[in-house]
Amino acid sequence: METEKITQDLKAMLNDGVFMDPLLMNTYYQGRMPACWEQAKTCANRMYQSYTHGQHFAPGLDDDMPFSPRLLHRCLVETVMSTAVEIANERTGSVAPNEDDLETAKHRVEDWIDKRGMERLYKVYFVIAGYDFLQPMFFHKHVYEADFLNGARHYPYTTEALDLYLMTALARGSVRLKQLRDGRIIVPTKLGQTRFQWMRQSLEESGYLERRIAMSYVYQFDTIEDWDALCDIVWPDGRELRKSYLEWVGIEPGQQVLEVGCGTGVLTFDEGLAERVLPEGHLTAIDVSNGMLDQAQSKYKERGAPAHVTLTLASVEHLPYPEDRFNVALGSAFLHFTNASIALKEMARVVVKGGIVSILQALSFDLNVPFFNEWFQPILELAKKSRRNQKGTYLPTIDQLQEWFAGAGFSQIEVRQTTASWVFDNPEVVVQHIVRGVSFFQAELVYLPWDDQRTLIMELIDRGRDVCRKYSRIERRLELPSVMVRARK
Ligand SMILES: C[S@@+](CC[C@H](N)C(=O)[O-])C[C@H]1O[C@@H](n2cnc3c(N)ncnc32)[C@H](O)[C@@H]1O
Repeated sequence: METEKITQDLKAMLNDGVFMDPLLMNTYYQGRMPACWEQAKTCANRMYQSYTHGQHFAPGLDDDMPFSPRLLHRCLVETVMSTAVEIANERTGSVAPNEDDLETAKHRVEDWIDKRGMERLYKVYFVIAGYDFLQPMFFHKHVYEADFLNGARHYPYTTEALDLYLMTALARGSVRLKQLRDGRIIVPTKLGQTRFQWMRQSLEESGYLERRIAMSYVYQFDTIEDWDALCDIVWPDGRELRKSYLEWVGIEPGQQVLEVGCGTGVLTFDEGLAERVLPEGHLTAIDVSNGMLDQAQSKYKERGAPAHVTLTLASVEHLPYPEDRFNVALGSAFLHFTNASIALKEMARVVVKGGIVSILQALSFDLNVPFFNEWFQPILELAKKSRRNQKGTYLPTIDQLQEWFAGAGFSQIEVRQTTASWVFDNPEVVVQHIVRGVSFFQAELVYLPWDDQRTLIMELIDRGRDVCRKYSRIERRLELPSVMVRARK
């Protein structure tokens, strides 16, 4: 019963654009954007004062749920701040909120509380933070209290938060303490284990975990500093492929072109897309990641800030352009990070009748190759256990692509199949690239505690070293099927 209610609340939150992600707040925003944090705290303080008149609040809570002013306070700050991030994401696709986003977030959170009650918000917070709290205990059966309190397994949660969570979990009977010879451990109780299972179920069923993953795609691009170097090592013929893609699309001088998911500007500047619109045409290049755009911005400046190019922070899912604005909308290696059918509909909307929508995209392929299985065995096992990722990759199939293009209203679709070499040579680079760059295993990693994610990544790098010794270079090369698609509106 309560599980269903929580699932409904979580769904309602996602529908109403209210987001609550303590993990994201602590990982990404801790120490960043201090002005935003201060503003979020002020909002939360005001909300806290207007909603908590103790008497009012407590009767809404179950007997086993203690009321902690500090916890409610954390819940409010993190909800206002995460909602502001959600709003920034809706507006520009980025995860960098401004003052207006915070103001809008405050209203959204207040409206939600007016409709559903502060107790429900507090309970949802218990589920989300409780899930993060119990996950390492569930995974490892126990955690040493000392390790727990210094955050060894729960980084990026701060000691201050962990201290509070532990008291609360003890009071609720979700965990107990047990003295061992070498120290005290925290063990989940039977009740705690049952709670953990239903919390996970609620977070999955409501779409919350999926949203968390989608958000992480955006902010992890923000923190990749050496994307171009990474790609050049892993996809040595990636640049040639982009060049031949541009030839194939056939951009004409004078056209108004939109490039989506421009990243660091490899297609835009390095491979000459910008020059193709000259003279008199214009190229608008967008991306959702501030970090990637900064790198594109450097290339733009190196080229003397050409007036025929504009770089803009925006999402392909909400293009800030009117209908019929461009002759061509195109992009490379971005579609699998987006809601593809929305992305293609948006691209179709902004091109003129007779205009072109085109993509260069890697396709799903069979990863069942000896060296790959050996290298990535621990994560493949995890995928099997969680019964996700049955297909092997998160890349689309050609049929899916055709379906999405047809769904966006295109009937004339041209496809050119090609391949790109994927070289598994340098274990650090390969693992970085697979985990962060192409995000193959994001859906598995989300099921691991923070600390174990890092340990797994280190293990994958170590396994990679062994695999590189055992298999020849040729054996460690995959031909990645890729496709160029061009459709006319
Ligand atoms: C793999 S990179 C490819 C970059 C570039 N097109 C290239 O070929 O090197 C994918 C890019 O898509 C961007 N991206 C992801 N989701 C997006 C969205 N919804 N709208 C626009 N860009 C998005 C990412 O920030 C990232 O820069």
